[in-house]
Amino acid sequence: MTSDTARTAKARAKASARQDWDAGCYARNARFVSDLGSPVVELLGPVAGLRILDLGCGDGALTEQIAEAGATVVAIDASESQISAAQARGLDARIGDARSLEFDREFDAVFSNAVLHWISPPEEVISGVARALKPGGRFVGEFGGAGNVDTVRRALVAALDRQGHDGSGADPWFFPSDSDYRALLQDGGFSVDSIALIPRPTPIPGDLGDWIQTLAGSFLAVVPAEERDEIISDVRDASRASLQQADGGWSVDYVRLRFSAHLR
Ligand code: BEZ
Repeated sequence: MTSDTARTAKARAKASARQDWDAGCYARNARFVSDLGSPVVELLGPVAGLRILDLGCGDGALTEQIAEAGATVVAIDASESQISAAQARGLDARIGDARSLEFDREFDAVFSNAVLHWISPPEEVISGVARALKPGGRFVGEFGGAGNVDTVRRALVAALDRQGHDGSGADPWFFPSDSDYRALLQDGGFSVDSIALIPRPTPIPGDLGDWIQTLAGSFLAVVPAEERDEIISDVRDASRASLQQADGGWSVDYVRLRFSAHLR
């Protein structure tokens, strides 16, 4: 079992609750997250007649692609700001917590992109997904797997520790290995059709500091406001040799865990 699976779900959930999701900020600094989600939509294969739940839809960019392919989609997300943005696209988007899904045998497939690493414990998500699916229904998704954003993650933990904070305690992310997540899916009643870790170094649109403020807010939230610039500066310095490109841009060491499973 990897350290990500062993780390207590309660600690991860507590840290994750400190992350703030502002749809405008996300659109400026993290649009690449949905832009790079097309392979997962292809794996899902949304066609007319299918009823699909998009788990953690964000601002609905991929939900819209699924709907445009002809499927009927219900989208949920925990962030009011993101749900408002998704509703503005005309989608059936609702506030919801992936750990307490109340759907009962109504979807042909559940889809999720770049969200499951934020939600602990994973067992609660998987059992809610299983309940939401019709018999034989599919669970298709992608999220951060073992080693994801490791350079920045290590640098964040070290920078917080150096300033006397609990770096690991502020870490919200669950990045399991393929074998650990396969076991979780199987224990939750699924047969796994495919699962793989996919290294995907990803150029980001702006500075690493903007990425940290948009996507790693849980770490900054435990630090007094006047110390945050120093944390960001420490992380930039520690990451520069591995992640800064010759033209000054940054490429973050993403690793995706992509899977497709169906209810046994
Ligand atoms: C991800 O999609 O892998 C990710 C996004 C934000 C922070 C960390 C990881």
